[in-house]
Amino acid sequence: MSQIISVAIEKGGVGKTTTALNIGAGLQTLGRKVLLVDLDQQGHLSRWLGWHEDRQPAISELIYQEVSKIKTAEYKQFIRHSEREQLDYIPSNKMLGGIYAVLGADGESNTVLCRIFHHDFFKSYDYIIFDCPTAVDNLLVSNALQCSDKLLIPVQAEKFAYDGIPLMLQRYTAIKRTNNIVPYLSGMLITMYNARTIMSNEVLDALKKSYGQLVFPKPVPMLQEARNSTDDESSICGSLVRRKNSRVGQAYLAAAKRIAGEAV
Ligand SMILES: Nc1ncnc2c1ncn2[C@@H]1O[C@H](COP(=O)(O)OP(=O)(O)O)[C@@H](O)[C@H]1O
Ligand SMILES: [Mg+2]
Repeated sequence: MSQIISVAIEKGGVGKTTTALNIGAGLQTLGRKVLLVDLDQQGHLSRWLGWHEDRQPAISELIYQEVSKIKTAEYKQFIRHSEREQLDYIPSNKMLGGIYAVLGADGESNTVLCRIFHHDFFKSYDYIIFDCPTAVDNLLVSNALQCSDKLLIPVQAEKFAYDGIPLMLQRYTAIKRTNNIVPYLSGMLITMYNARTIMSNEVLDALKKSYGQLVFPKPVPMLQEARNSTDDESSICGSLVRRKNSRVGQAYLAAAKRIAGEAV
């Protein structure tokens, strides 16, 4: 049985996609089988994994197939494999922008991703990770949250870092229909942390005060290596986890170990 993790928060540029990729690579490094799913029409995750338009079906077609009940492709046809990262993924493209009307047409429009990813085919993966778009109040994100076992919230170590967390938790609580959302949380991971700034330390302290054990103990440092790794024009793009001496990679590996229940 796979564990489904959504990486989500209604803030852009906070490291959602960087986190989804590196946590995926970290879990894979720990010997887990991982499927990354790009739910953002910008398709950054897909491009960082080396995907180019290949005329094979992508996530929008997978959703359309589920809603329309017209099966045009087998599940395995949606999956690509990144040799460099040793990761399986389902790419997204701009067609995902039109998916809201399709989702809205479904009688149970919040459960479309659940119906897809709870299918036996996907059970061979230990982890399925959704890289969500920057939104919370939209049908694609609510679908992702509905079918997630855990939510991972990246929090950028900067002013206004808190913005969006209470709303995100409120939405998730409503979707999960629970009084206790904690079991459904993977935690809050501080990204772009600069130990030398007062602001970064204030964010870390305040977050720990509010959310305690839910905060990953090792923040992800803010370093140029992360920026380079996600520059999709660059030949060195990709995850940092497998690169020796990468401090960003080490922080993500520590987070992946915690997720996998291994000693850090
Ligand atoms: N730890 C980090 N240090 C420096 N830059 C980072 C770090 N993590 C992410 N970035 C950069 O921040 C930008 C936004 O990250 P991204 O993962 O695309 O955020 P989101 O998916 O939330 O929009 C990217 O240019 C990325 O390279
Ligand atoms: Mg993103």
